[in-house]
Amino acid sequence: MEYKPLPDWLQKRLPELKQTALAARENAYAPYSRFMVGAALLAESGKIYPGCNLENGAFSPSLCGERTALAAAWMAGERHFSLLAIVGGPQDQPAETWEFCYPCGVCRQTYAEFCPPDFPLLIMAGNRETKILRLEELLPWAFAFSGGK
Ligand code: THU
Repeated sequence: MEYKPLPDWLQKRLPELKQTALAARENAYAPYSRFMVGAALLAESGKIYPGCNLENGAFSPSLCGERTALAAAWMAGERHFSLLAIVGGPQDQPAETWEFCYPCGVCRQTYAEFCPPDFPLLIMAGNRETKILRLEELLPWAFAFSGGK
């Protein structure tokens, strides 16, 4: 599948999105896994919403950074989104060692609810390497509810 390249105005926002994701990661609450994730969601308004993972001692209530960013943006009234940046790495290791941090399956499904198939995700390997992937590449054949009505 061929995707349109990111438009210039969006390309220009990437440094800020990366910085916001890295800074958001600092807020992660991850005492159990010690794996800290930061996300930065650019909404169509132009505002950037940070997110981080919030773990829980009961484990299953844990929230991923991608979804806390989405919840914050939604609650601020945002309904359309332009790009999500994600970074993650172990708490005790320097950014130079972090691998690409791909969103988990639950987050992929969550974004599929609110974003189009060509929605771009900026996946970061610490502060040194990035790749852009589209939602549909991460979650082909997404479930879409067609019951009810
Ligand atoms: N985590 C995220 O925040 N986002 C992902 O996409 C992958 C996993 C968090 C959940 C948990 O707090 C920690 O990373 C280790 O799995």
